[in-house]
Amino acid sequence: MTLDRADALAQDAADPLASFAAQFHHPFDDLGRRLVYLCGHSLGLQPKSAAQYVEQEMQDWQRLGVLGHHVATRPWIRYHEQAAAPLAALVGAHESEVVAMNSLTVNLHLMMVSFFRPDSRRNRVLIEKSAFPSDRYAVVSQLVSHGLNAAEHLIEIEPRPGERILRTEDVIDRIEQEGAALALVLLPGVQYLTGQSLDLAPMMDAARRAGAATGLDLAHGIGNTPLNLHDWNADFGVWCSYKYLNAGPGAIGGCFVHERHARSIELPRFAGWWGHDPAVRFQMGPDFHPIPGAQGWQISNPPVLSAAPLLASLEIFQRAGIRRLREKSLALTGYLQRLIEAHLPGQVDVITPSAAPERGCQLSLRIARPPAAAKRCHELLTAAGVVADWREPDVLRIAPVPLYNSYSDVFAAVDALSLALRR
Ligand SMILES: Cc1ncc(COP(=O)(O)O)c(C=O)c1O
Repeated sequence: MTLDRADALAQDAADPLASFAAQFHHPFDDLGRRLVYLCGHSLGLQPKSAAQYVEQEMQDWQRLGVLGHHVATRPWIRYHEQAAAPLAALVGAHESEVVAMNSLTVNLHLMMVSFFRPDSRRNRVLIEKSAFPSDRYAVVSQLVSHGLNAAEHLIEIEPRPGERILRTEDVIDRIEQEGAALALVLLPGVQYLTGQSLDLAPMMDAARRAGAATGLDLAHGIGNTPLNLHDWNADFGVWCSYKYLNAGPGAIGGCFVHERHARSIELPRFAGWWGHDPAVRFQMGPDFHPIPGAQGWQISNPPVLSAAPLLASLEIFQRAGIRRLREKSLALTGYLQRLIEAHLPGQVDVITPSAAPERGCQLSLRIARPPAAAKRCHELLTAAGVVADWREPDVLRIAPVPLYNSYSDVFAAVDALSLALRR
């Protein structure tokens, strides 16, 4: 197999999803050169249609004022509901199990209020040692709010010595060991640092067998890998929409609550009027009657201007289809891996698993140089017009996103990295 620029162009020409790239704004440098943007794992590109979606709301607000709640083109009072079907398709859930609301860490707290219910015997939370810091902060603060502490009640699992990737059997063993002491198992869909996509079904099963509640951080999973939250039986899942969902910086996040909790009114929750039955919401009664399903965890009315780009992006996802995107993603990331192996042998260590089911778009690389020189490679890459990112202590993350990246983008990135490594 040839691994040159002509081959990349040939693959682009044969790509059935190639035309979707033109539906996004691609950033340019000061000299007007298009950047090679491989950073959708951090912030997705802007759909060109997003501005029209936002503009529509600005115009409706200007034209209608408060009346827009009911008669805007997309009535604000039900605005969030328009995201439910496409979100459900992305996470493998029923529409009633998902809701667009708040942001990830806020949703994580709200979910823990309901699903982390420690008692004197079952009071531990299992997370991974390299969990995204915000998750750890949230979990520890929840422990403290129950009079517990991280030293005794937080279990942090990590890969075996000398390994970077969690083994499924190790996670399950640990869940089984902790057994009746475990109150909550909180895991990522795709690990933010290593790019590992966890085999969640058996882990969720093990946690449920142990009697623990289960939660998922899907920041790097949604819009990236196919998810099956309903069938995996997770109690809850939370995500942000600014990464693979391309909904813009600080965009409205989302939440999954399994249907078995749809009518669990006995669960403690932090309530607000937007989670209250809409049929009687404006009767302004004193008692809270939650909407059955995930919507019952809403607190405030949705931020329409921040939700508008999400609707724009979800409309593109519906046209492209997550299965087709995943097919392209596997090919594109596989191509990135092959180029690295062919052009940078011994210089770069790919820590993301090489087996396709065990990863999403992203490859995480360790550069075989002393730390300062490795970091310098990232700086040179940036200077060459390739946008990837660096995560301390030693990881370069590169994510070819099937909606808007091409094989030529991937080729250009490896070419630039190869040059950076020679400097
Ligand atoms: C894996 C993961 N979890 C949580 C967060 C925090 O998200 P937010 O700021 O939306 O709460 C991020 C943000 O990048 C993340 O990558």
